[in-house]
Amino acid sequence: MKNLKNALLLKQLYQLKQLGYRYTSASIFKEDETNLALPNSLEKLKEQALKCHLCELSKSRTHVVFGEGSPNAAIMFVGEGPGATEDSMGRPFVGRSGELLTKMIENVLLIPRSEVYIANIVKCRPPNNRVPTPTEAHTCQPFLNRQIELVKPKIIITLGGTAYHYLTGDETGITKVRGTLHQQHGYTLIPTYHPSFLLRNPSAKKEVFEDLKKVKALMEQW
Ligand code: URA
Repeated sequence: MKNLKNALLLKQLYQLKQLGYRYTSASIFKEDETNLALPNSLEKLKEQALKCHLCELSKSRTHVVFGEGSPNAAIMFVGEGPGATEDSMGRPFVGRSGELLTKMIENVLLIPRSEVYIANIVKCRPPNNRVPTPTEAHTCQPFLNRQIELVKPKIIITLGGTAYHYLTGDETGITKVRGTLHQQHGYTLIPTYHPSFLLRNPSAKKEVFEDLKKVKALMEQW
């Protein structure tokens, strides 16, 4: 999903499908297209995301969690979606799993958290921390795609199965794919476990350590 026009069209098609339509004319789209172009700066993109009401998650959110970090980051982390702490603060990965992510960045990659960029597949909290629906993920994805185009990271580390799935289109389970390297769209994608999975399964930390060592090795070649 490349732009908001497509995202809005998709949303309308999902709504019609829920109402029982099986076919429709593509001319249902009536929005002012000039409002749907994606901006050329992270600041403007954030402004647009903060006003977004394209999916159901906008109704229950406290804050849109756009993402944060260095606008020129070589390393980007992508999670699934904000949790309760992130929703209340408007910042990604600031709860318990965020503390662990910060340790992974600072103690293993040996760089300050402020030097990487951190974002999520969906920018608004799914109620009760459920997995975002395909409609929610696809509707929100133009924002993440644009963040990636603007930051131009060399490496994207996806955290958990949801981020890997939506950034690659591959539905293989995270246990199978973690630690593998994928070249796409000018960056290397490396899937690893989500920090919240590590909080529940601390013994998996060693695998994440191995995955991050691969990231470190790539960084040493720059
Ligand atoms: N989990 C996520 O996937 N993202 C966050 O920002 C916080 C927790």
